[in-house]
Amino acid sequence: MRKVLPLILVMFLMAAGFLIVDTLSPKAQRLPKPADEKKKVIPEVIILGKDAKLGKVTFNHVKHNGGEYNIGGPILCIECHHTAQPASDLDKIPPHKTVWPIGRTTTLTAELFAADPIKAGVAACRDCHARSGRKPKLLDELPSIVDPETKAVTKITNQLAFHSACDACHFEIQFRTTGSKVPNATNCATCHKSTAKKH
Ligand code: HEC
Ligand code: HEC
Ligand code: HEC
Ligand code: HEC
Repeated sequence: MRKVLPLILVMFLMAAGFLIVDTLSPKAQRLPKPADEKKKVIPEVIILGKDAKLGKVTFNHVKHNGGEYNIGGPILCIECHHTAQPASDLDKIPPHKTVWPIGRTTTLTAELFAADPIKAGVAACRDCHARSGRKPKLLDELPSIVDPETKAVTKITNQLAFHSACDACHFEIQFRTTGSKVPNATNCATCHKSTAKKH
């Protein structure tokens, strides 16, 4: 999630990405609409933080994953959907080790999703990273990571999961690109928009 991909790989994936988009999207549009439509499309804009006191966060999913928001190449699905890849690949990005669904052998891509949205196995972050004190839908308890040095255990709540995942990349971009419009981790209102205006 925080790792910058080697340039070669990024360029390869970029090329592959264009091919996928080119060849798959027209076909995908022609498919008949299944009854369970809701589960089968990649959401374009997602309203997060509906319960957050500071206000909800409008996350433009399609701009982040469709190549418009660029990190020297399109952002890969697995940069965020970290459980949607085989366990062998997670060995390279500690502390990640959990895959979903259990035993999966595929890596989430737009192509994989277009081929079979159910088999692509995408789970919402919040189904595992529940709010503090809540039992997540998919796991017995909140995900946690253990510090290899201190053995301290950190529970990855929704707040921590989203903030780390989102901020790490924005910080890098802000650092690299002048005039970038990425949110600023210390300016909460760059993401959280309060609807109830104070008078
Ligand atoms: C990059 C965008 C972004 C920035 C910047 C950001 N947040 Fe968040 N924050 C989120 C997202 C996304 C969630 C997860 C919402 C969800 O669970 O749906 C969240 C969740 C939270 C929650 C937990 C809400 C709950 O009860 O479930 C708190 C508290 C919070 N943020 C506070 C802050 C504070 C304080 C700041 C500024 C120091 C801040 N956030 C900056 C995106 C951001
Ligand atoms: C920059 C981060 C990011 C990238 C890149 C990304 N996603 Fe997502 N995706 C999210 C977030 C955040 C959610 C909302 C999770 C939640 O509601 O807890 C989501 C939700 C989804 C959902 C709906 C899941 C559900 O059950 O509600 C699907 C399907 C999905 N993404 C597919 C993809 C595919 C396919 C790709 C790659 C082409 C991709 N995403 C790339 C962050 C990302
Ligand atoms: C199937 C459950 C599951 C889903 C879905 C899931 N996570 Fe996680 N996440 C975990 C577990 C478990 C860990 C602890 C490390 C491990 O076991 O892989 C973790 C760790 C993390 C970490 C801490 C590690 C680090 O690199 O800093 C972040 C951040 C994170 N997840 C963000 C997300 C985001 C964002 C999404 C959605 C796009 C998401 N997770 C979806 C289970 C999940
Ligand atoms: C791998 C990199 C990466 C990750 C991860 C990422 N972003 Fe971004 N984000 C970007 C880039 C690139 C831009 C566009 C910057 C620009 O236009 O100059 C952006 C812009 C934004 C913006 C401002 C523009 C808009 O669309 O409203 C928001 C809000 C935002 N991101 C929210 C999030 C949230 C919430 C998450 C976590 C769920 C997240 N981002 C994860 C790279 C990332």
